[in-house]
Amino acid sequence: MTSLKALLPLAVLLLMSVAPTETKVVRSMKDCNEFFLEKTPPHIPRILEGGNIWGQNRFKTICQTFEDTRTFVTLYDTKNKIPVFSAAKYRGDHEGKRPKPSPWMIEPQLDDTKSNINMAPENNQETYENQAVKKDYENNQSFDKGHLFPSSYGYDQIEKNSTFTLTNIVPQIGKFNQGTWNKMEQCIKCVMDKYCINNNNKTEGYVVIGARPSNDNNTLKKRINIPSMLWSAFCCYNSKDKKWLASAHWGKNIKPKDKCLPTKTLHDLHKELGKNTEVFPKTECPLKTTVTNVYKNLNSNCNCPK
Ligand SMILES: *[C@@H]1O[C@H](CO)[C@@H](O)[C@H](O)[C@H]1NC(C)=O
Ligand SMILES: *[C@@H]1O[C@H](CO)[C@@H](O)[C@H](O)[C@H]1NC(C)=O
Ligand SMILES: *[C@@H]1O[C@H](CO)[C@@H](O)[C@H](O)[C@H]1NC(C)=O
Ligand SMILES: *[C@@H]1O[C@H](CO)[C@@H](O)[C@H](O)[C@H]1NC(C)=O
Repeated sequence: MTSLKALLPLAVLLLMSVAPTETKVVRSMKDCNEFFLEKTPPHIPRILEGGNIWGQNRFKTICQTFEDTRTFVTLYDTKNKIPVFSAAKYRGDHEGKRPKPSPWMIEPQLDDTKSNINMAPENNQETYENQAVKKDYENNQSFDKGHLFPSSYGYDQIEKNSTFTLTNIVPQIGKFNQGTWNKMEQCIKCVMDKYCINNNNKTEGYVVIGARPSNDNNTLKKRINIPSMLWSAFCCYNSKDKKWLASAHWGKNIKPKDKCLPTKTLHDLHKELGKNTEVFPKTECPLKTTVTNVYKNLNSNCNCPK
């Protein structure tokens, strides 16, 4: 005869296996809003409005989690298989370096909703319908795996490694990625290190970096949309000067014609991305002034392009 007591461990096991596990593909931006200024995600008409996602089947919020640490957030387009944007709180480049070899990972939960694994190397036996894999990027010299949230902005080694998830990557023309885009990333990182100082005297800047998908079936391996343009915006408070700072950059995903990406205002970016787009809604981020208007010496101080 089986006693009830003997069955108890089994019952506990059963319960554990049906209880909801913590997933990192979260249902709402609200479950991962610590990476947005004022906990408020961008407003992107017909994709993300008031924190709510249109087309829950197509667009997924990934609370990027690596080694049990949440590091940034991505809104991912499972149809185009590229991110709409990645957003993060820059806290300074504290420690660590760009990992070598690149530890490429995918998001198991995009294809297996029952999975409780976050950000992991792909399983070569599996097929992934809802995301890009390494093979999609192979054998095409023109394109880099271009980071939206860059590894160089990672606070520590965990945060740096965590940017190597293909859900944070778009096919980016190599000369653009390594040229004007890279220069812009370095300039903005330097600006945030120097001027984004919060009331606790700590580095704190917010970045949102996105890609505009092409609409002419321009794809890698007939699977991955090759975006026509990449954009980047930052905003922060400088407690020393009691000023809000912001600026925006974007560039076509082609071999650059000029030496650098022009510095633009948030308002310019909103116009470029389409009516009613707002990258930092409900904040005091200046819409019509760039950080280069406020600090005239960024060219020499931060090696920012003129
Ligand atoms: C980061 O990636 C590198 C290279 O792939 C690896 O050697 C290192 O252990 C990783 N570090 C962490 C914290 O994941
Ligand atoms: C702020 O931090 C910097 C370096 O992190 C330090 O040199 C400075 O003294 C600090 N200022 C205040 C007011 O604590
Ligand atoms: C893109 O490809 C799909 C399927 O191959 C086709 O139905 C559609 O008309 C194409 N769109 C454009 C803009 O070429
Ligand atoms: C790289 O991808 C582009 C876009 O799909 C394509 O036009 C080009 O032919 C590819 N190059 C190689 C070497 O496969």
